[in-house]
Amino acid sequence: MKAIKEFEMYWEEALNSLYPKREIKSLFHLTLEDVLGISKTMLLSNPDLNLSLDASAQLNRVLERLKLGEPYQYIVGFTYFDELEIKVDPGVLIPRPETEELVHWVLDAVHPENKGTIIDWCTGSGCIALALKHHLKNWEVHGIDVSLDALKIAKLNSHSLNLSVEWHEDSALQPSFHQKADVIVSNPPYIPFVDKAEMHQNVLKFEPELALFVPDTDPLLFYKAIADYAMKNLNDKGLLFFELHERFAQETKSMLEELGFNQVEIKLDLQGKQRMLKAQMR
Ligand SMILES: C[S@@+](CC[C@H](N)C(=O)[O-])C[C@H]1O[C@@H](n2cnc3c(N)ncnc32)[C@H](O)[C@@H]1O
Repeated sequence: MKAIKEFEMYWEEALNSLYPKREIKSLFHLTLEDVLGISKTMLLSNPDLNLSLDASAQLNRVLERLKLGEPYQYIVGFTYFDELEIKVDPGVLIPRPETEELVHWVLDAVHPENKGTIIDWCTGSGCIALALKHHLKNWEVHGIDVSLDALKIAKLNSHSLNLSVEWHEDSALQPSFHQKADVIVSNPPYIPFVDKAEMHQNVLKFEPELALFVPDTDPLLFYKAIADYAMKNLNDKGLLFFELHERFAQETKSMLEELGFNQVEIKLDLQGKQRMLKAQMR
């Protein structure tokens, strides 16, 4: 038996050189809750709780992987996105909070009681497609990715969440799946390789390169390909939504205006970055 307080001190010492103090604390409480079912409130009312040998071993297993820089979400195998628990593994990008903001923008723009069709290009874990289906039960939702590893997780997610999304293996750069849609949404790969130097090691080492990078010489590669797809497949007045690289936000907007999209609008995320875009088909 070990007192939780004692284990917490050991945990803080072990991760001290790797993460900021606040993050270490929050990882400790997340692990207690997600792995052992001990919430912060339970701990507050029982500050002298002890850990069994088995519970200590479970925490130690998480700690060893955190020490190697592995993202917490891959260790426990899930994360929360919008109102959903989404399974993740190293075959998919860990869904980010700014992508939830994109989903909320889509939801603000459509009428849930109507019927319509949504296509989510570069779906990864399926987080965007699944969150939209969760709120728009009457809508038909398609999630597409080139990665079979990603589609495997997306399908597991739709099964465990009981949300019916149609999944397709296809490349946004050479699409063969065509379907008329009212909304096309995408958080595609958008980071030029040159940005690698400024990125966290735990992203570079553990998250799939396929999900992240575009050539330095063509950072709008996916935006141009999906815009072209939208020109052919969006219904009149249909909407196109992108998550953006803030450095290329204005360039993406101009590209869409030149193609003839209307009301091209950029929105800031909660951190004040030019993070998402909405455009209307004529
Ligand atoms: C930035 S991740 C986004 C994942 C998910 N939509 C999210 O928001 O968390 C980009 C995704 O694009 C997929 N991808 C990469 N190249 C692709 C291509 N040519 N066609 C379709 N999907 C592609 C990757 O497998 C990855 O799942």
